Amino acid sequence: MRTQVAIVGAGPAGLMLAHLLSREGVDSIVIETRTREYVEHRVRAGVLEQGSVDLLDATGVGERMRREGLVHRGIQLRFGGVDHRIDFGSLTGGRAITVYGQQELVKDLIAIRLAADLPLVFEVGDVQLHDIDSEHPSVSYMVHGSRTTIECDVIAGCDGFHGVSRDSVPAGVLTTYERVYPFAWLGILAAVAPSSEELIYCYHARGFALLSMRSPSVSRLYLQVPADERIDEWPDTRIWEELRTRLASDDWSLTEGPVIEKGISAMRSFVVEPMQFGRLFLSGDAAHIVPPTGAKGMNLALRDVSILAEALTVFFTTGDTQLLDEYSAHCLRRVWRAQHFSWWMTSMLHRFPDSDAYQTQLQLAQLAYTVDSRAAATSLAENYVGYEWATT
Ligand code: PHB
Repeated sequence: MRTQVAIVGAGPAGLMLAHLLSREGVDSIVIETRTREYVEHRVRAGVLEQGSVDLLDATGVGERMRREGLVHRGIQLRFGGVDHRIDFGSLTGGRAITVYGQQELVKDLIAIRLAADLPLVFEVGDVQLHDIDSEHPSVSYMVHGSRTTIECDVIAGCDGFHGVSRDSVPAGVLTTYERVYPFAWLGILAAVAPSSEELIYCYHARGFALLSMRSPSVSRLYLQVPADERIDEWPDTRIWEELRTRLASDDWSLTEGPVIEKGISAMRSFVVEPMQFGRLFLSGDAAHIVPPTGAKGMNLALRDVSILAEALTVFFTTGDTQLLDEYSAHCLRRVWRAQHFSWWMTSMLHRFPDSDAYQTQLQLAQLAYTVDSRAAATSLAENYVGYEWATT
């Protein structure tokens, strides 16, 4: 088989890249180790920045998101049992975010790809990248018991943090930056109407809690738990009791409902530089991870691939590699802004195991300032809706 771009991974990054390239007449083949069923139901991120919404709209993927996504013009910061609203509208000149589950976007992109009869192969095994530092790289994989090879011009590594793409780069080429946090998030999906119209980010002495949602009838809730926590230690009754305790506020109550899904995810910050080696380009979680507190993960992935799609389009139409050469640096400015914001939100809102009374007072001082000062609130708001650089 031969194509222009072999795309490893059918998450939001890989599928969106394939979509953007097909609009420009660039051929690609997408391969994925999981089943279609798995990627369409994997519960992950849920917040789209304004720029991501605009990108989906502009490229013909926004129709169901526009209908079913929930537009939010602010979030609540809850501490000391009291809500403080960060109003995106007035602080960012009318920008907003849209709550739309990553798996919904994945479903939309798969439907578009299959309707156009473009190649997308699920359940491949033993993926290997070859000759990535030559002009004729290839990707091989096992399917139905035999090995298939895709000859290509470029490989896009969109296979997430645990994928094989990043590890295919020779040792010593990439610089890694990393923080692992001493806590995790226990997340549930519950079949109950959200108890708040807006997301509530809650600081509490027992640890962070977050109320989010997926639709008018499905809530998404999170609790900070110790890093090595096991999910079987958290029966549903314990989860609801802890959520009630941490989210407690006067004249407000948390409505409970059946838990549809639950799991624990580790929290880390991670970046590799550069996001390219030879003809391999890394996008999304394959190149960088943020803790979920800033809701940036899916947005960074979408931005990476929109930059990559443009660079590849120029490359395939003119042979000019300048934009491809600039890809990594171009992405990394935004990546590092999101790294800082996500680390900052995480540090302000979580209870650290080694935290003392002084640390707690610093967090409360920062929260009080963030909601009181228009400058500080604007900083949170403009990062949350997605910071657009004023300088190029
Ligand atoms: C989610 O709804 O899954 C969600 C929302 C906001 C976050 C993280 C996760 O900061």
